[in-house]
Amino acid sequence: MKRFSLCVALVLLVAFLTTPVAAAAPTDTLRNLAGAYNRELNANAQFTAWALQADKEGYGEVASLFRALARAEQIHADSLQVLLKKAAAKPMVKILKPVVGSTQNNVRSAVFVENELRDVIYPRAVKQAAIDKDTTALDLLTRLKNVEATHARLLAFTSAHLTSLSGSRGRAYYVCPDCGYVSDKPDFAKCAICPAPRGKFITVS
Ligand SMILES: [Fe+2]
Repeated sequence: MKRFSLCVALVLLVAFLTTPVAAAAPTDTLRNLAGAYNRELNANAQFTAWALQADKEGYGEVASLFRALARAEQIHADSLQVLLKKAAAKPMVKILKPVVGSTQNNVRSAVFVENELRDVIYPRAVKQAAIDKDTTALDLLTRLKNVEATHARLLAFTSAHLTSLSGSRGRAYYVCPDCGYVSDKPDFAKCAICPAPRGKFITVS
């Protein structure tokens, strides 16, 4: 299992770290934005593949969470693309073949990767944006770091209760279209991360 998680982590994290970007004089922050864009697109593909596997194994609720997270990662990629376009950067995108194991392993891998993003990758990018005095990138990367932390919490909860989710049906999750925050509860007034009101949220099941 540990080897499987590390394999998935390597696919996603290497995608994050090595994406080249074509721009006149790219800053480290611009490279980080390009890497994050590629990584978020790969995460979308990975979560989508894991959702299919969870459905096959009868973990309907887990499949719903993976689909909600896939949608969230696409929202992250779209936000990053806006900044990259403003900088006239053309990031190289390489979507790697998703690594799919058992749902138990997939959930653990997802927890591992999201924790790395929350604790290492995005904090490093946030620090670099501050050094580069790129306030727009700083705001977005900080937001992404905070959203990934909430994704990690949902996945950790799912991992801890996975046995009871065998045979479950799909359920609704609520995705913020502005920042990719995912709520597992329907009753709230606004996004926990950004100013988006509840009425803007997308229901994913
Ligand atoms: Fe939000």
